[in-house]
Amino acid sequence: MPRFDDADLAVDPAPQEKDSQASSSDHTISIPAHQRRDSEVVEVPASRSSISDAAQYMHNLSLSPSMREHRGSRNSFGTSLPIPRSPRPSRLSSVVTADGNRGISAAVTRDILASQVQDMSKEKVKAAKNMAFVFDIDGVLAHGNELIPEAAEALKMLNGDNELGIKIPYILLTNGGGKTEEARTEQLSEILGCPISTDQFIQSHTPMRALAEYYETVLVLGGEGFKVREVAENYGFKNVVHPKDILAWDPTISPWRNFTPEERAQARPRDFSKVKFDAILVFADSRDYATDMQLIIDLLLSENGRLLTRAKDPVSSRIPIYFSQGDLVFPTDHKGPPRMTQGAFRIGVEAMYKALTGVDLERVVYGKPELATYKYADEVLKAWMEIIHNEQRLPENIYMVGDNPASDIIGGNMYGWNTCLVRTGVFQGKEGENDPNNPANFGVFDNVLEAVKAAVRKELGQEFKFKWNDKINPVLNGESISAVE
Ligand code: G3P
Ligand code: MG
Repeated sequence: MPRFDDADLAVDPAPQEKDSQASSSDHTISIPAHQRRDSEVVEVPASRSSISDAAQYMHNLSLSPSMREHRGSRNSFGTSLPIPRSPRPSRLSSVVTADGNRGISAAVTRDILASQVQDMSKEKVKAAKNMAFVFDIDGVLAHGNELIPEAAEALKMLNGDNELGIKIPYILLTNGGGKTEEARTEQLSEILGCPISTDQFIQSHTPMRALAEYYETVLVLGGEGFKVREVAENYGFKNVVHPKDILAWDPTISPWRNFTPEERAQARPRDFSKVKFDAILVFADSRDYATDMQLIIDLLLSENGRLLTRAKDPVSSRIPIYFSQGDLVFPTDHKGPPRMTQGAFRIGVEAMYKALTGVDLERVVYGKPELATYKYADEVLKAWMEIIHNEQRLPENIYMVGDNPASDIIGGNMYGWNTCLVRTGVFQGKEGENDPNNPANFGVFDNVLEAVKAAVRKELGQEFKFKWNDKINPVLNGESISAVE
């Protein structure tokens, strides 16, 4: 059973009425309710306080005594994160064969054989369709662009290389982002050696598509080159501004900018003194902290989202800021400790904002372990079940396999999923250790393959075979032909 609870998470209960936003005099992040097309969006209560995380890092910054008191309220929007009502429609073919490399006739033969085997093992088939995996990517399936070798075997087995020849459902749920779902799944299919569909894929900013219902002109930051522009435009944002568009208009806006002539050529400058920004969206890790932080602070302190202005009261006229995820660190191919990521960048922004204004920055954070992200994952899983098994329902036994106790595991635990922590990423515990703060409830494993095998054995039996046998004879009740020769 889901165990997210406002009291557990120290957040105010979500307002019952969708329009119950605080007035602007409450200085809260508010969304323009009149622009919503309610049928397309679901609002999910936030699972954590929207108030700045920077406070704990601020002890050595002396704030002027005249600055206003720390405010304990939470923003009205922070108690609910809009997510799309249904998963996005795929632009790619969603049909995934059990083995992308087999010829069509071999695949058909095997599918016929597999369906005969499945007819003989109805209980196991039911159990196989009643379980599902949700995989984190970085530190579980790959490190950056490098495959974690056991992941390829685990996915091959789930794609049908098992004694039933059945697809055991799985989706990928990552806090990564910065490029389109199509581009990332194409890249992942290469890395993992099997086809990954956009229909089984959620990255940190995927649910933020819902925000296109609310905001028209947005500053979108993070990621390589201008890729986040394409992401935001695909989501339906009408007027997407990239920091480099602003640099191309006025390079002096960021004294320590990082701006090449090639980027200048791709930018879309215009007179940004005349543009009113509605929101700031951080979709991925900044590649130019100096410029991105400067522009974020400029807009947060501006009069209603207009560059070159400074608001008299920066709080009441502040435009909202959204971060696609909150991880502090993530595993990379670096040999030392995990590297800093978007959460660390956000804390930097919060600290600057507080040092400049004396007020905590209210902001909204998507991604794991936000409840909204897990609810969206349920919808994606249901839709994926329909695609692979023609059954639009949620399997009962869901296993989250993750490497980060502070995002994958805490979120999975709170959502009532089985959680498996692996030692190939952020978590570096020794044999026999679990994370002390957010222990995985199903167990800790050396790698993803071990986690998958343990979960499949639990649901389908200890003897379940992790290999398809082409020589199987269904008439002989699952015995291999060679076994009776
Ligand atoms: O920036 C953090 C992100 O790369 C983590 O990705 O797949 O571990 O959720 P993932
Ligand atoms: Mg990870």
